[in-house]
Amino acid sequence: MPADLKGKVALVTGGATGIGLGAALAFARAGADVAVNYSKNETAAAKAVKELQGLGRRAIAVKAHVAREPEVKAMIDRVARELGGLDILVNNAGWTRAVQPHRNLDALTDEVLDGVWAVNVKGAFYCVRAAVPHMERRGGGAVVNITSVAAFTGQGSSMAYAGSKAALQTMTKSLARALAPSIRVNAVAPGLIATGFGGWTEAQCEATAKVTPTGKLPTTEDTADAIFYLATSPAITGQTIVVDGGLVELGPRA
Ligand SMILES: NC(=O)c1ccc[n+]([C@@H]2O[C@H](COP(=O)([O-])OP(=O)(O)OC[C@H]3O[C@@H](n4cnc5c(N)ncnc54)[C@H](OP(=O)(O)O)[C@@H]3O)[C@@H](O)[C@H]2O)c1
Repeated sequence: MPADLKGKVALVTGGATGIGLGAALAFARAGADVAVNYSKNETAAAKAVKELQGLGRRAIAVKAHVAREPEVKAMIDRVARELGGLDILVNNAGWTRAVQPHRNLDALTDEVLDGVWAVNVKGAFYCVRAAVPHMERRGGGAVVNITSVAAFTGQGSSMAYAGSKAALQTMTKSLARALAPSIRVNAVAPGLIATGFGGWTEAQCEATAKVTPTGKLPTTEDTADAIFYLATSPAITGQTIVVDGGLVELGPRA
């Protein structure tokens, strides 16, 4: 039976587009009020809020660069104030820049090394740190971190990106232990999803789909299903669901 999230509040960072928007819509369809965070794309954020409100929910867009802790604190306080609390946090905001081939070590600049670490690792941590007191006030909550198959394979848009997602994988387990029993912390590790993230071309997406065991790339909705499941399953913490059509676990289809 699908979870009933009436009276619950979810915050999805980077929730105005792609995978984050898919998750925000899934929470709203189940009855939650939803805040979507963005750092630049105000147009997408306004559109997302309209779509969420169209489902009959309260929805707000909150601008904050997740790597800046004062902005994160202000964002989470505002969500709790305007929507009445915070129950679910999805750390979905992510940043990368393609630096390929990985062998080109000199191309991996400090801007990329520091940028991925700041957004993908510190940003997620700042959001959890600010969210915990609000969740505790409601008797508990759930966090879902969006990592990547790059965390397991070391492949992906850049070596630094893969490393940052591996750090977030490990931090998911550390946080799950540290925040138990009241707050559950899990991760979803997507494979290639055609959102435009990472700058993958249509040809690269097609080639990956061809060798994917399920015969196609997962969608943002497929990924949102896994996020929703982990956010609403009371017996699951410290876990990861890989949403990649079986490619990492089974290897490429011949
Ligand atoms: N698509 C894939 O193949 C894939 C695979 C594995 C993992 N992922 C992960 O999935 C997550 C979502 O990506 P997506 O594919 O849905 O791409 P996307 O549509 O580009 O989403 C990324 C979101 O992050 C937001 N963002 C970036 N920097 C931010 C910052 N400093 N503060 C707040 N928000 C920020 C962006 O909003 P603004 O433009 O407003 O900054 C954007 O809405 C990312 O964490 C990514 O690493 C994606």
